[in-house]
Amino acid sequence: MYEEYWELREKPFRNTPDPRFLYHSSQHEDALMKLIYTINEGMGAGMMTGVFGCGKTLLGRALLKDLGPEKYKVAFITNPVVSSTELLRAIVRNLKAASLPTKQTELLADPLLENLNEIFMNNLRDGKETVIIIDEAHSIQDEKIFEELRLLLNFQLEDRFLFTLLLFGQPELKEKVANLKQLEQRIAIRCHLDRLNEEDTEKYILHRLKVAGKAESIFTKEAIKLIFEQTGGIPRRINHLCDLCLLTGYGKRVKEIDEKLLKEAAEKFA
Ligand SMILES: Nc1ncnc2c1ncn2[C@@H]1O[C@H](COP(=O)(O)OP(=O)(O)OP(=O)(O)O)[C@@H](O)[C@H]1O
Ligand SMILES: [Mg+2]
Repeated sequence: MYEEYWELREKPFRNTPDPRFLYHSSQHEDALMKLIYTINEGMGAGMMTGVFGCGKTLLGRALLKDLGPEKYKVAFITNPVVSSTELLRAIVRNLKAASLPTKQTELLADPLLENLNEIFMNNLRDGKETVIIIDEAHSIQDEKIFEELRLLLNFQLEDRFLFTLLLFGQPELKEKVANLKQLEQRIAIRCHLDRLNEEDTEKYILHRLKVAGKAESIFTKEAIKLIFEQTGGIPRRINHLCDLCLLTGYGKRVKEIDEKLLKEAAEKFA
């Protein structure tokens, strides 16, 4: 709606996990490097925790794009709040295009595990790495599901794991996993995403504007300082507030977003 007015090709602050917009802050860069290391070095399992809205799902999407389908087979599970059998089924479905048996008796965990083992071995034979990413893993309530994931990690050859498991979730995932000692011991690499600092908040805003087609800033330095204070440096909140500012500024036909306009937009910001 306001894109043309601000000379933008597209909306810069959409709250969607679009890897094109990824701003490589040092912590996002570090996390991405560690996740790729976990996969490429065959470390078995890794865990990325992070404050809500700080980019875990986006980083997962960016990772998926980086890995590419030629060398990697990836199951990206975004809703793990299901029974352990359903989760296994979702993993198999993600990794395999062919349809699954639907007869109730065939839905039991064992045939699914057999199915998975076969997929892992086939991928290995084809020279492909298998990766299972569980997003929102903090929302898993049923310990049986974590146990199932741990058992999956026992699918190993003498010298290597058959797949890499990556768990993503909010900070409470750390405690959940800490209570499951056997799973915890298998997590080789950990990383964490926190809120952005003030400097990164500014760079983040400029980066998203640039990707959307605007090389110079629309926000004054003072406005950016206030955005940081209002949002606590949480990208999802920054997006929301910046979007409101662009809309309010368009409504008022201002040339830039300054402190005054920001305060006005912030009134509508929860
Ligand atoms: N480094 C980044 N660069 C660009 N955009 C980002 C970055 N980090 C987060 N965002 C944006 O912030 C929004 C929230 O990010 P995302 O959904 O990935 O957070 P999350 O950590 O998965 O949150 P939740 O814990 O609620 O699932 C998305 O629109 C995303 O594009
Ligand atoms: Mg998420």
